[in-house]
Amino acid sequence: MHVLSVSSLKGGVGKTTVALGLASASLSRGLRTLVVDLDPQSDATTALGATRELKLSCAEVLKLPKHANVVRAIVASDWESSSAGTMDLLPGSPKVVEFDSPTPTKRDLWRLEEALSRVEAGYDLVIVDTPPSLNGLTQLAWTASDRVLIVAEPSIFSVLAADRAMRAITEISKQTAGRLTPLGVLVNRYIPASKEHQFRLAELEQLFGSDLLSVTIEEHSAVQQAQGAARPIHSWPGEVAGRTAKSFELVLDQLFQSHGTDVSKRSSKRSMKVLKGAKIRRGAIQTVLDLVDEP
Ligand SMILES: Nc1ncnc2c1ncn2[C@@H]1O[C@H](COP(=O)(O)OP(=O)(O)OP(=O)(O)O)[C@@H](O)[C@H]1O
Ligand SMILES: [Mg+2]
Repeated sequence: MHVLSVSSLKGGVGKTTVALGLASASLSRGLRTLVVDLDPQSDATTALGATRELKLSCAEVLKLPKHANVVRAIVASDWESSSAGTMDLLPGSPKVVEFDSPTPTKRDLWRLEEALSRVEAGYDLVIVDTPPSLNGLTQLAWTASDRVLIVAEPSIFSVLAADRAMRAITEISKQTAGRLTPLGVLVNRYIPASKEHQFRLAELEQLFGSDLLSVTIEEHSAVQQAQGAARPIHSWPGEVAGRTAKSFELVLDQLFQSHGTDVSKRSSKRSMKVLKGAKIRRGAIQTVLDLVDEP
């Protein structure tokens, strides 16, 4: 199981859109996918069309991350799949704000990791949609993640927020013995014909170098239409939706490529030892490590 957080310290740049686009790409590839909606606004929960009555949400799971709670909270999304893939959801709730303190305790930081360790065998990819801040919820999402994808719009404030986020990843990474690494910065809502966007993209290239993903997600109304209809972008008709879907597949490819690099890095004895010293409960990518009990 691989865990990817989709984050940005700025609101409205497209975190949920990117999380859903990647979930759609993952489903179309036939992967067993889980979306964790850690944002109190719960937009991903709405867009995944989990319309039936929800028994439990992320809030109860974080409060008590035991197996029975996690399994009861997870629901199948309404996204239909023509492939062998599955799309499940750990629903969001306004009640998760309880865990969004600016100074989370160490115990709180590991709650999502613990919850995901309960369903580790059930999923190939977990995508976590996070709120637009670096408070507790984002920190506990990152603590449970292998990778963080930072989403940025081609605008000055978004560029600055992306820079802050990349620095923060380094800090949180220390708590996970280096398991957490940035996948990079993904530019969303790009309008190729806009001079301002071209300028900001060049600025991002300069600032982030190889950490800036070469693929961008363009601004298109088809993205909003698919979201409004609670449908995956891969099932939305039209050439533009098809191209956007392809862009999300390219991002997914980059995720799995970074995976490959990481597997060899982790198989060394030294990194195994370091990971065992941390509180990591899930296996690091394909290597299942011994579980380390919480004190
Ligand atoms: N590539 C795109 N093309 C068109 N519309 C987009 C695109 N990306 C995002 N949007 C729209 O922009 C709005 C904000 O996007 P989204 O909700 O994904 O941002 P967010 O970062 O998750 O916001 P928040 O910080 O509130 O969680 C939504 O209405 C969404 O449909
Ligand atoms: Mg959102």
